Amino acid sequence: MPNIVVVGTQWGDEGKGKVVDVITPHVDVVVRYQGGNNAGHTVVVGREKYVLQSIPSGILHRGRRCVVGCGVVVNPGALIEEMEALVRRGVVLDGNLFISKNAHLIMPYHPALDRASEAKLGSRRIGTTGRGVGPAYVDKAARVGIRVGDLLNERLFREKLEMNVAQKNRLLREIYDAPTFSVAEILDQYLRYAGWLAPYVTDTALLLTRWIESGYSVLFEGAQGTMLDIDHGTYPFITSSSTTAGGAATGTGVPPTRIHGVLGVAKAYTTRVGGGPFPAEMSGKIAEHVQARGNEYGSVTGRPRRCGWFDAMVLRYAVRVNGLDTVALTKLDVLDQCAAIKICTAYRYQGGILTDFPEDETVVAEAEPVYEEIEGWLATTSGAKNEVDLPAKARRYLERLEELIGVPFCLISTGAQRDETILCETSPLLRWFPSVRSSVL
Ligand code: IMP
Repeated sequence: MPNIVVVGTQWGDEGKGKVVDVITPHVDVVVRYQGGNNAGHTVVVGREKYVLQSIPSGILHRGRRCVVGCGVVVNPGALIEEMEALVRRGVVLDGNLFISKNAHLIMPYHPALDRASEAKLGSRRIGTTGRGVGPAYVDKAARVGIRVGDLLNERLFREKLEMNVAQKNRLLREIYDAPTFSVAEILDQYLRYAGWLAPYVTDTALLLTRWIESGYSVLFEGAQGTMLDIDHGTYPFITSSSTTAGGAATGTGVPPTRIHGVLGVAKAYTTRVGGGPFPAEMSGKIAEHVQARGNEYGSVTGRPRRCGWFDAMVLRYAVRVNGLDTVALTKLDVLDQCAAIKICTAYRYQGGILTDFPEDETVVAEAEPVYEEIEGWLATTSGAKNEVDLPAKARRYLERLEELIGVPFCLISTGAQRDETILCETSPLLRWFPSVRSSVL
């Protein structure tokens, strides 16, 4: 059975939640492998809207096993709130949710450090979600982090907490002039969380390997996007985890040899939240139009997202670093009322033309987009069941994008509902999951 990774190809918010939701009925297990509650995966089921932050969106499908892998950073209070909200809406977690012992915890001092550090950076600030994700990964890399499994050993947890609080309080007081934390308060709160979470905590790497050996199919659900990857993104304006496909192996303990394919998710245009270079950024009326029509506001922070044209440089880069087999294109309908549509095909830099996404942050910051302009289709795409039902000009847009990025589309999404999805006939998705057709009818 195929094990497939779903990754964001841009700066996050590509609509991965919906794509995962369409594929989930055809797999046995869905696993998150990086990030934390900085992510927000929105899934619309009928009239119900769910925003999931740490739990894989596969949990909305009865009987699917969902795993929070070791590469994720877990804020236990936020996770418990998310669990309670799901239970209130009738979602069964017992026997379906598994949390890695080795996932690191977001502690109360992490969001405080996140915000204090951002304030100090001034104009160089990243524009983080303020959830403490970066500082939690800092502790992981510095080997002083506290892991979910530590919650189950009170003595060890207390020891690690005391050491960390002493260190972080010094930092908060002396470097940032910010309020400090008390060991007793955190201990009390986190031991209560431990009681709640204990039944779900386990060695998920072992579990996943056993499931794969017994023929289960696993979907790896990426959060954020390629351009926010700690190594391959637009550093330093990135998140602190491995958002690209390689992270699926390290963030779960499933070896790369057990992963059979990678599906990228891209919006029909581009968005970015927070600071950092964005060569194909729109401005003026068109930016306002796309932002309003696409409801481009952060699902976690509510911040308005910056909007831009489809950037084929970014997509070609995502194809390369993730080894994408195919791309699901979302939110095509947002462009329905645009009279003219631009596609960024290359960058102009110091008099020359770049056709590969540059690694150097100063080059990206100075690069100017080279655009190709096509006529808009000025017609509704929502509700189309097949590619042939789309307006001819919309089909031409899709064909041109495929040509520029070099891999075929597998799904075209034209609305938030599950059935507002077109399945592309030649898509590798049909090879991996022949029954996926039933999900989009
Ligand atoms: P952090 O992940 O909170 O440290 O934020 C670092 C950068 O990643 C900021 O630019 C955030 O706006 C961005 N970011 C983090 N999570 C998401 C997401 O789920 N969607 C889009 N951008 C995100």
